[in-house]
Amino acid sequence: MRILIIGAGSMGCLVGAKLSLAHYEVLAIGSPRIYKAISKKGLIFHDLGGLMHPVENFKMVESISTLNTHDLPEICIITCKAYSLPTVLKKYASILSLYTEVFLLQNGLGNEDLIGAQFPNLTLYRIISSFGAVLKDGHHIFQTGEGSSYLCHTTPSSSSSSPTSSPNHENLSLLHPLLNAFGICQMALSISASPITKVWEKAIINCAINPMGALLNQPNGFLLNNLHFWTMGGKLVEEILHVAKQMGISLKTHSHYMDQIRHVLKATQANKNSMLQDIENHRPTEIDFLNGYITQMAKKNAISVPYNEMLVALIKMKDPTD
Ligand SMILES: NC(=O)c1ccc[n+]([C@@H]2O[C@H](COP(=O)([O-])OP(=O)(O)OC[C@H]3O[C@@H](n4cnc5c(N)ncnc54)[C@H](OP(=O)(O)O)[C@@H]3O)[C@@H](O)[C@H]2O)c1
Repeated sequence: MRILIIGAGSMGCLVGAKLSLAHYEVLAIGSPRIYKAISKKGLIFHDLGGLMHPVENFKMVESISTLNTHDLPEICIITCKAYSLPTVLKKYASILSLYTEVFLLQNGLGNEDLIGAQFPNLTLYRIISSFGAVLKDGHHIFQTGEGSSYLCHTTPSSSSSSPTSSPNHENLSLLHPLLNAFGICQMALSISASPITKVWEKAIINCAINPMGALLNQPNGFLLNNLHFWTMGGKLVEEILHVAKQMGISLKTHSHYMDQIRHVLKATQANKNSMLQDIENHRPTEIDFLNGYITQMAKKNAISVPYNEMLVALIKMKDPTD
């Protein structure tokens, strides 16, 4: 089985490296900077134990015109940041239209709506992962964390008849090899029985931690021990749960998510969250797909979410690309 990865940065290279090391053939496309580094020096995978593994079978192509549309890999995974999704969908439309199913490894809310608007017939599976990865010098991929990963069959909110749609069993022929492949390379995916809930649960954690860490310019451990963070985080989660309820999304209790946030902060104390890293690296942030999405949905449902609104504005003030 061959796998195409579109938008191969940190997570794309992590997944690609692990699949390649398990002898799957991976074709990846991403930024010219990463293409140059990997083509010249090869991809090097650094595992959690600090061991280095040169990766073969991971081929990066320079541009879309180099892809043979008559012989595309069976599986397509998009791994760009949520803010790059509109550009990626446009740029790779001719390729994506040849697939009936696409896997999206990405955080955020509302991503499905963008895909659904352009590819209404595409079956979409979101991969929600708590693995961590950082790509350095364009060709050294470091695994920075390990956790659970879920495969979530999702649909655009406008066309979703049920907030917890189950996987389309007609497509299990493609799902089985993918699940097998991720299992073999120790990134086992569990099929989520409540896919939309799973996507929202990851987003709740990101909505509370990412903007606050980014604004304060502090690693996760700082938030864990800051009383003001817990007051503010509590208000944010309260607002998100209110919006979700109004949208018919089934979620657990406020205290459950506060415990989850504490658990994530404890496990990642030394880490700088991805929004903080984006700001430090002069890149856009995923705020519009996190708290920004909450404010949009709140407006639609005539709900007031002042804490989320304030955070969106503050992050946009700090975003050097805005
Ligand atoms: N990294 C983690 O530890 C982690 C963990 C869990 C979930 N996630 C989520 O996974 C998603 C991906 O994160 P990431 O950290 O892997 O992001 P990333 O390192 O920024 O990788 C995304 C890559 O996509 C490339 N890209 C953007 N537009 C493109 C286009 N039009 N054509 C080709 N390539 C394009 C980017 O190129 P440029 O460099 O030129 O922009 C970048 O290299 C995000 O939603 C993130 O929140 C990340």
